[in-house]
Amino acid sequence: MPITAPSPWHRGEIAMQTAAGVAERMRDVGSRVVRSFMPEQHRQFFAQLPFIVAGTVDANGDAWATFLTGRPGFVRSPDATTLSVERTRDPLDPADAGLADGAPVGLLGIELHTRRRNRANGVIHRDNAAHGQAFEVAVEQSFGNCPQYIQLRDFAFVRDASAPSPSAPVALDVQSPRLRAMIERADTFFVASYFDREDGHRQVDVSHRGGKAGFVRVSDDGALTIPDFAGNLFFNTLGNIAANGRAGLVFADFETGDVLQLTGDAQVLLDSPETAAFQGAERLWRFVPRRVVLREDALPLRWTFRREGWSPNSLMTGDWNEAAQRMKAAALADAWRPYRVSRIVDESDVIRSFWLEPADGAGIVPHAAGQHLPVRVTLPGETKPLVRTYTLSVGPADGVVRISVKREGRASAHLHDALKVGDIIEARQPAGSFTIDPFEARPAVMLAAGVGITPMLAMLRHVVYEGLRKRRVRPVWLIASARTLASRAFAAEIDALARSAEGAGGAVNVIRVLSDPRGAQLKRDYDVSGRIDMDLLTSFLPFNDYDFYLCGPGAFMQTLYDGLRALNIADARIHAEAFGPASLVRLPDRGVEIRPMRPPATEAVPVRFVKSQRDAQWTPASGTLLELAEACGVETESSCRGGTCGTCRTRIVSGAVSYSSEPAFHVDDGEALICCARPAADTEAALQLDL
Ligand code: FES
Repeated sequence: MPITAPSPWHRGEIAMQTAAGVAERMRDVGSRVVRSFMPEQHRQFFAQLPFIVAGTVDANGDAWATFLTGRPGFVRSPDATTLSVERTRDPLDPADAGLADGAPVGLLGIELHTRRRNRANGVIHRDNAAHGQAFEVAVEQSFGNCPQYIQLRDFAFVRDASAPSPSAPVALDVQSPRLRAMIERADTFFVASYFDREDGHRQVDVSHRGGKAGFVRVSDDGALTIPDFAGNLFFNTLGNIAANGRAGLVFADFETGDVLQLTGDAQVLLDSPETAAFQGAERLWRFVPRRVVLREDALPLRWTFRREGWSPNSLMTGDWNEAAQRMKAAALADAWRPYRVSRIVDESDVIRSFWLEPADGAGIVPHAAGQHLPVRVTLPGETKPLVRTYTLSVGPADGVVRISVKREGRASAHLHDALKVGDIIEARQPAGSFTIDPFEARPAVMLAAGVGITPMLAMLRHVVYEGLRKRRVRPVWLIASARTLASRAFAAEIDALARSAEGAGGAVNVIRVLSDPRGAQLKRDYDVSGRIDMDLLTSFLPFNDYDFYLCGPGAFMQTLYDGLRALNIADARIHAEAFGPASLVRLPDRGVEIRPMRPPATEAVPVRFVKSQRDAQWTPASGTLLELAEACGVETESSCRGGTCGTCRTRIVSGAVSYSSEPAFHVDDGEALICCARPAADTEAALQLDL
């Protein structure tokens, strides 16, 4: 009978894993990755280090983190469950009290010049014969850590490793400018935390945290706010904090050898609105220091930042400035905001990209990949602005606004012909429900025709970014067609994305289709001539379970949709973005409950437009509520006029509306897409719209 190893996770860690939705996965992983002995590799690793980081707990139950330094070899591993550390006790170090005989300790071995790191937690044994100059750790937990968020630095000793610091420690106030200056420029720190198990055994951990310089925010009251990025999902530190609310932090000035140690109270913030505003943050935690000790020149080591030494993972994260700008922008969600055109790029002979920057001092609200940007332009000689929606061809992590516009119709022709770098246009918060989940394991098949490539590009950027960040890229098939080589957009960008995904073990398969391949070379410029149809799909796609994403002209999408449904692909697996009023006619899955539509009114219904204080009488001949509003001179905004873009979304003050079929754009109860809504029959309350 197989013996199941006990789970190494305690209730705090399990609570954090549950909140992250990974508790079940980590239950199996735990006993495999957390070992009670050190593998040979770890033992050798500790023996080559010039410093380790220790987490300890003092008599008051306060956690402290500190550096223990020595010439390589000062840590050795005589056997697989023992680390012996040659290092004289330092009473000036506030963490030293917790390095007594019998005390639990957390150790982290880390090489800043290779990004390797390993953890070993256990209990200290001191032999009186060593006279406080060495101790051993009986290792209870040993595990490796991934090399993320570690900036590359090379070390050098500046004095005898055993010589004490020439400076006395200084107790700092939590609001000290010195503390703020040191933390605000730090890109690295270490955190000690602990958990008292039910059997009375204390488990101490110490771990590394890294990000862009300034990733730790210091508030005026001295409290620190720290983003928690994607990691190994163990949640050792945050699990300890969730359980007992104590932590100890240590920052090093790598150039001067100064060490700043803080102990205090910590709290995990699982639902702060700032989490979404901080690029890459999955949650935040807050630390309020109670004691702060600065030890100048405490380290006999100095480090130099290596050229190109930034961790790619750190560079994928945001900063507090950007987060504040995003919070400001979120407050302007429903407003038309001015954007300055910063760059214009021709992507093909018909598609032009416009890069936009907010011109009102607020930041960019992260959108969902695949969404569109409502844009308002007033054409020369006209007074009423036109509203159009253009797909954002970037992902949320790109931190920029880029719309890619095909020349077709008056508004897009105006953008192509008249808009210059430096001009201002107005835009509102991105909208749309044609989006992708980058973390889904099922492969995605993106089918794009013509300018339908724009949301697919945004989705692909998002899938690759998140895949690189989490080290698992969702498999993607991108099948994109264009009429000619000259009308194909984004070929080089898509190629580069596919290559970067390869580096992370991802599979992005791109099939380029040209309907008119004259002047193009097979393999070099395209893979298939003709159109995207079911024959092409079945010849390229291996048999598998996929999510399909369709974007292109109405007929293209309807044909593919019908073809996929005929192959028994579930309706729920087919996602589609329709441009304009030609929205897709769907065949619901068998057994799926269809939300009953309210029947439309068949007789005259009074309608009140509340903001403009106009009353009108709707009759079946009036058409949609948008048409009625326009006929009454009520100010409205619309773009697709077919229920796909959301521009006409209007709050229903009272009454109810009816649609002939479910609009593609989802609105909440209490809202109406007036471009395709009519008054509902049999409602008791009069219909009043917030227009
Ligand atoms: S105008 Fe596009 S949904 Fe109504």
